[in-house]
Amino acid sequence: MEEKVYIFDTTLRDGEQSPGISLNAREKLEIAEQLARLGVDIIEAGFPVTSPGDFEAVKTIAEKVKGPTIAALARAVDLDIDRAWEAIKNAEKPRIHTFIMTSDIQIGLQLKKTKDEVLEMAARAVRRAKGYTNDVEFSPMDATRSDFDFLCKVIEAAIESGATVINIPDTVGYALPNEFGKLIRDLKSAVKSLNNVILSVHCHNDLGMAVANSVSAIENGANQIECAVNGLGERAGNTSLEEIAMILDTRRRTLNKTTGIVTEEIIKTSRLVSSLTGYFVQFNKAIVGANAFAHSSGIHQDGVLKGRTTFEIIDPRKIGLTESKLILGKTSGRHAFKTHLESMGYSLKEEEFDRAFERFKDLADKKAEITDEDLIAIATDEVRTIKEAYILEYIKTSSGTNKTPKAKIRLKKDDKLIEEEARGDGQVDAVCKAISMATGVETKLLSYNVSSITGGLDAQGDVTIQLEIEGNKVLGRGVSTDIIEASARAYLNAINKAIEK
Ligand code: KIV
Ligand code: ZN
Repeated sequence: MEEKVYIFDTTLRDGEQSPGISLNAREKLEIAEQLARLGVDIIEAGFPVTSPGDFEAVKTIAEKVKGPTIAALARAVDLDIDRAWEAIKNAEKPRIHTFIMTSDIQIGLQLKKTKDEVLEMAARAVRRAKGYTNDVEFSPMDATRSDFDFLCKVIEAAIESGATVINIPDTVGYALPNEFGKLIRDLKSAVKSLNNVILSVHCHNDLGMAVANSVSAIENGANQIECAVNGLGERAGNTSLEEIAMILDTRRRTLNKTTGIVTEEIIKTSRLVSSLTGYFVQFNKAIVGANAFAHSSGIHQDGVLKGRTTFEIIDPRKIGLTESKLILGKTSGRHAFKTHLESMGYSLKEEEFDRAFERFKDLADKKAEITDEDLIAIATDEVRTIKEAYILEYIKTSSGTNKTPKAKIRLKKDDKLIEEEARGDGQVDAVCKAISMATGVETKLLSYNVSSITGGLDAQGDVTIQLEIEGNKVLGRGVSTDIIEASARAYLNAINKAIEK
């Protein structure tokens, strides 16, 4: 009989700790709703004590997202546990996840406590969390570099105090797959009570082995995997959700395990997370990279044409990729557009749909062939749209050899129109300066990235801009066939987000 492996997603907690990612509450909710459609068992929605913004986001997710368990992270101290509970108490299925460092190196250098104190704090934290909810997860942080006997003691104490899930983190991504598998096996035989709780693992990817270590843990008795979409997370990231899910699916007979993941939702989830975090997926990334199903050499192409399975171990449709190229054009009506979006899994609210349709018509005027990629870019952009204080009405730019680039823009705020002109080093610089003057918002540019959504000279440009505004980092995104306009949209999107915060 196949055993279930629980998928614990930490995109919104460990993933959000990746440098430069700063999601607002609305974006976090959007991702959480998609994670629920993807079928994850647990969503770690955040670390409520760290900021009022994180607290509010976790609370909103706990109140609105139905299906998965909603977990909140807390250090092994009363304040954290109380805040975590406050944030998730209205969830259908709440879980408090508490942790404490257990390796000599972290206890000595950072926590500055004795091992007895750590043991006592762990037990006390679990008891306090248990006073709020039955579902309590405990993590001995840096488990893979902890003294084995001490690790066993802490785990035993946590279970005795009421922990229902024990999570073994390879916090610094140091373990080798065979070592990590052995650790799981040894813990199970040394701590008998571990067989009565869920045994989880949380692997980091510093040596590129997070997924391999997670698989090894499953083979040795772990039944919960902590992971993040696109492998996001501290430093080199966490176990990649899509990779572990597809390993368990593709090698199901060998591993004899099952998950609740709706694999057809994988590509959409990956794209949503990538677009909202501004973290691009590398082309050759397993499962969700642009080249994951691209065959370049003649022999491979020939093979795939004769039979897909010659060089493909996964049917791309299994992760939600469709082969249909275009379908819709200038003359397509609202009904066809809506039906096609729905077939790709997007159900937009009325006003989002109206805006998306207007953009699609506009695009159809400029671009010969509209692909699913174009439609996904528009749909994702619309579902993530915040209530914008400023709307871009018009831009005009000019530049040329030996000419100073200039930009003129018009923004709308409520019923007021604001026009500004500026010069810059280039047209993008000029347009951003004009927007900054019109909104009165000063910004520092942290990063600028442009990529094309599809091939071809008429492709849409996808611009992400990271700005620092009043000490906060905000990410803006804009899509257009004209990259100056895409840049202006991305810049204004970041400003609107900063104002909304
Ligand atoms: O990497 C780690 O140890 C963690 C814990 C909080 C589980 O993220
Ligand atoms: Zn971690």
